Amino acid sequence: MTEDATVTAGPSPHRHTFAPAKIAGKFQGKHIISVDQFAKDDLEILFDATKSIRKRSRQHDRGLTEIAAGRVMASLFYESSTRTDMSFQAAMRRLGGDVIAASNGVRFSSVYKGENLADTVRAAGCYADVIVLRHPQVGSSYEAAYFLDKLNQRIDKRTVVVSGGDGVGEHPTQALLDLFTIIDSKGALDHQSITLVGDLKNGRTVHSLSKLIAYYRPKGTRLNMVAPETLRMPESIIAMLTDLDVEIHETEALDDVLGESDVLYWTRIQEERFANKEAYDAIKDHFIMVPELLDQAPKNAVLMHPLPRKHEMGTVEDHEGLDADPRSIYFEQMENGMFVRMALLAKVLREAYV
Ligand code: ASP
Ligand code: CP
Repeated sequence: MTEDATVTAGPSPHRHTFAPAKIAGKFQGKHIISVDQFAKDDLEILFDATKSIRKRSRQHDRGLTEIAAGRVMASLFYESSTRTDMSFQAAMRRLGGDVIAASNGVRFSSVYKGENLADTVRAAGCYADVIVLRHPQVGSSYEAAYFLDKLNQRIDKRTVVVSGGDGVGEHPTQALLDLFTIIDSKGALDHQSITLVGDLKNGRTVHSLSKLIAYYRPKGTRLNMVAPETLRMPESIIAMLTDLDVEIHETEALDDVLGESDVLYWTRIQEERFANKEAYDAIKDHFIMVPELLDQAPKNAVLMHPLPRKHEMGTVEDHEGLDADPRSIYFEQMENGMFVRMALLAKVLREAYV
């Protein structure tokens, strides 16, 4: 999709003219486009709702299907996705809502005729109550929110956009499910040594997650950032974390921190963000998680990954070895994604008490 003339990857012009509302205890009717909107209290509300929804889902509680009955979610994905798209769709359906999308995806919508993001979002805004948007342009969800608010005023409606990832910017709902999974598996966020490994420059999941950890204001938590020099975490995020007194340790050597890590958050080198294949090939094998490496991590560590996985988790045989280790929790993480998104949709659409 990125090669399409109508979809550019530079920052959106409206990124700086729209400031998303803080959640401040009230989710209903709010666009969800950055983790900057969340404070610890909001996360606690959302995570309590997630636990309740997970329990009720496992008991096949039919009451859940009343929460979004009669409501419609539009799925607008300009970049490929398996988990975010499917888990949002599953979440909406499990809450009793409906899902719409352009038949055969955005590629075959009027985007193909050159329609811009603002008009595409406004079309979806006329038909849906919530739009999940993934787009290659940083700030695209801000742009969507900006134009949706104008439309909402005009047609007296309250359609919201939820970001499913904007280029190398943010992936806020991934961070919500990641933080939920860390707290769920470790019991708390305080006093954890969390190690982010891989493409910290282009990986939107680690941008959102490290900020969200800071907003949770944990005590004694350390963020280790392991990346080759060219793929370091952006300076702006490091500065923001430092301002919030997060203890950060940046290194190129995994050995420095592997033995002390309570959480290992592995990431894919973001091939699609590289200027050319040579640049990607030169770095793609830098950090590879294999069972022998996981053996060197503490016995009570957990291994997470937002997925999909490629070279950074070795071969298919390595995948099998890693999957068999009880410390690998990326499939639980993936399932939690659906429950967190159910909770978020329930709150955003109805402020539902779940
Ligand atoms: N699926 C995640 C994302 O879209 C992580 C990845 O693709 O590596 O950001
Ligand atoms: N974690 C994640 O965003 O996966 P997808 O790219 O498959 O949606």
